[in-house]
Amino acid sequence: MTKLSYTMQTGFFGELDPTALLKKYGSPLYVYNEAVFRERCREMQSLIKGSPYTANYSIKANSNLTLLKIAREEGMYADAMSPGEIIVLEKAGFLPEQIFFVPNNVDESEFRFALDRNILVSCDSLDQVELVGSIASGSSLAVRINPGVGAGHHEKVVTAGKKTKFGIGMDKIDELKSLLTRYDLHLVGINQHIGSLFMESDAYLAAAGHFLELAASFPELRLIDFGGGFGIPYHKLAGEGRLDLDKLGRELSAMVKAFASNHGGDILFKTEPGRYISAESGVLLGTVTALKENGGTDYVGTDIGFNVLARPTMYDSWHDLEVWRDGVPVEGELSQQTVVGNICESGDILARDRELPHVMRGDNIVVLDAGAYGFSMSSNYNNRLRPAEVLIDLNGNDRLIRRRDTYDDLFRQFDV
Ligand code: LLP
Repeated sequence: MTKLSYTMQTGFFGELDPTALLKKYGSPLYVYNEAVFRERCREMQSLIKGSPYTANYSIKANSNLTLLKIAREEGMYADAMSPGEIIVLEKAGFLPEQIFFVPNNVDESEFRFALDRNILVSCDSLDQVELVGSIASGSSLAVRINPGVGAGHHEKVVTAGKKTKFGIGMDKIDELKSLLTRYDLHLVGINQHIGSLFMESDAYLAAAGHFLELAASFPELRLIDFGGGFGIPYHKLAGEGRLDLDKLGRELSAMVKAFASNHGGDILFKTEPGRYISAESGVLLGTVTALKENGGTDYVGTDIGFNVLARPTMYDSWHDLEVWRDGVPVEGELSQQTVVGNICESGDILARDRELPHVMRGDNIVVLDAGAYGFSMSSNYNNRLRPAEVLIDLNGNDRLIRRRDTYDDLFRQFDV
């Protein structure tokens, strides 16, 4: 077996294989493995031990209704960024007290949308606190704190520190307190999120420590949310190790326990993992449509444009690739090839100068770790159809969990 057949080694497709799945459902196609998804939910649900705790699944990573129902079955709560995310969570069976609305720069109607449903809202600026105070004086709310230090895999996903739009800075805490008094607001929750995709826990733990120091000055708190950002090894074919969740969990549990014994109270602690839950449970399958050489570069043309997977174009993100032919992984001598999509932009590059075996037209490409920020960031750019999503269930059976767009979908919002 070659090191390029990670999905085969892990039995990702159950009894099936990428060629059979593409024949059955068409290309490109997102495929999820239920067992992996459940395993990741369980790891996150048991991160903090010995204190009241739940992980909130951050559904921006993947909001497929079937996956949300599984997350709920696993006991997860969820955070929502928009009314659209709230209604999808309701549809999946989440109760108002299991949903945390953590929006950014929203208007009165969106706050009302959540408040009318008894969903706790978090305000991302003093201005948003004032807005909630003016429409719901006397109510309970949370605020998102910007701890001053961020982390992340790309500047576009660092969400704390001086150079981002997120959260209420530590220098504004006194102003926050006077606003709370002015509008008779009860600060029952604080949340933070320093950024996305860390593989070492130091920055997260340091931020959590500062957060708990701050928490001590708010006596009404019943929720402390440390945020998400837990990374996954995108370079797994090269042997990249996993984030040491046991160590992170042990240290976080100790900090939380110490806080709870000093301050008492009935506080629920939370994290907000998105990527960690869904990334490795999903792969993206596509098809090689054309090959060419230009200026010394060998191009592998596929149907995986950045409308299907935006991450490589948007953040230069790396996704490991496998090449399959007729139901088996392709082996043999490797050479550098650049894998591109079918979108009319030169930035439409899935993988640049990648070591791959000899590829032929009709081969299947398997893009690993595509379950987070894959389908959820897909679009109809170039009037292309968004792909279908399939679940490999616990018995190894495949099931369509979202149909592919149709051409009719492209006309749905027009009077034709
Ligand atoms: N909580 C808040 C407030 C967030 O803004 C985010 C992600 C999360 C939780 C979940 O972060 P995670 O655990 O998934 O790292 N599209 C980018 C990632 C953007 C993350 C935005 N916020 C990507 O594909 O890498």
